[in-house]
Amino acid sequence: MKNGQCWLDDKGNLIQAHGGMITQFNGKWYWFGENKDADNVRVGEKQLARVDVVGVSCYTSDDLHTWHYEGLALSADKNADPSSPLHPGRVMERPKVIYSQKTGKYVMWFHADSADYTFAHAGCAVADKPEGPYEFVGAFLPPERRDVRDMTLYTDPQDGRAYLIHSGDWNKTLYFSELSEERTSFTGVVYAHLPNQEREAPAMYYHDGLYYCVTSGCTGWAANSALYSTTRRLSSGMKLIDDPCEGPDARNTFHGQSTYIFEADGQPYLMIDHWKPQDLRHSGYSILPIEFDGDRMTVRWADEF
Ligand code: GAL
Repeated sequence: MKNGQCWLDDKGNLIQAHGGMITQFNGKWYWFGENKDADNVRVGEKQLARVDVVGVSCYTSDDLHTWHYEGLALSADKNADPSSPLHPGRVMERPKVIYSQKTGKYVMWFHADSADYTFAHAGCAVADKPEGPYEFVGAFLPPERRDVRDMTLYTDPQDGRAYLIHSGDWNKTLYFSELSEERTSFTGVVYAHLPNQEREAPAMYYHDGLYYCVTSGCTGWAANSALYSTTRRLSSGMKLIDDPCEGPDARNTFHGQSTYIFEADGQPYLMIDHWKPQDLRHSGYSILPIEFDGDRMTVRWADEF
């Protein structure tokens, strides 16, 4: 797979899984992400580039290279009320899936928004199988009613607690809102990190006593510099460290934006979206290995994954 380009599934179709995550359930790899296979349009005063919501795609693989399309895990609903988070005219971004040990269900969270990004909620859906179909539960605001913009899910490998990590306060601050054991609601515990730093596209990883959080700046579809931050505990103390990227065009994250970190055979990888605002369905992907040297994180460009 050539990094920075569109990738094809086992049938030769474009992989539509943007702003996504790769994770393992029951020994199989799953890739969830935004299906952007629709016509580009521009909306609102700011003429924001978008496509109508198709839904959340699910792909499976045994080797991380051959991907099979399992269909839409969660579908947009053309017949839904225009105010429903499932209506094609809304925004359904950065979907992530987590398993609840307690209920035995798979829980999907996504950034549920209006086309002008003023709704800013967290959408939740539940399924019996990882590939779905997911049943929509609702769109929520975490405790303290912070807005939810770019987001990810993270399970603390130390204690098994899970968090919805999201940009809030119009992207000013990164919030860690703890999820209940059912993973469909919040416990009320909220940690605020990186106040006034305006970071988004969070991707988390724990290594050797430190939690690492890779984020981008907030420039819409345009690429900017990635930064990683570290903390010894999830409750407080996160500080920005440096740009982890090295190689050609490292200063704008190789023309991309972070979305998730997964681990395969003990090696962590950063997933990157290469957005094409004029033609979002042809946005490309990269998967780059992450290296650690002491407390330093490096993401070096590689032509292929
Ligand atoms: C970016 C964000 C993307 C998408 C885009 C829309 O800042 O990371 O997920 O929301 O803005 O312009």
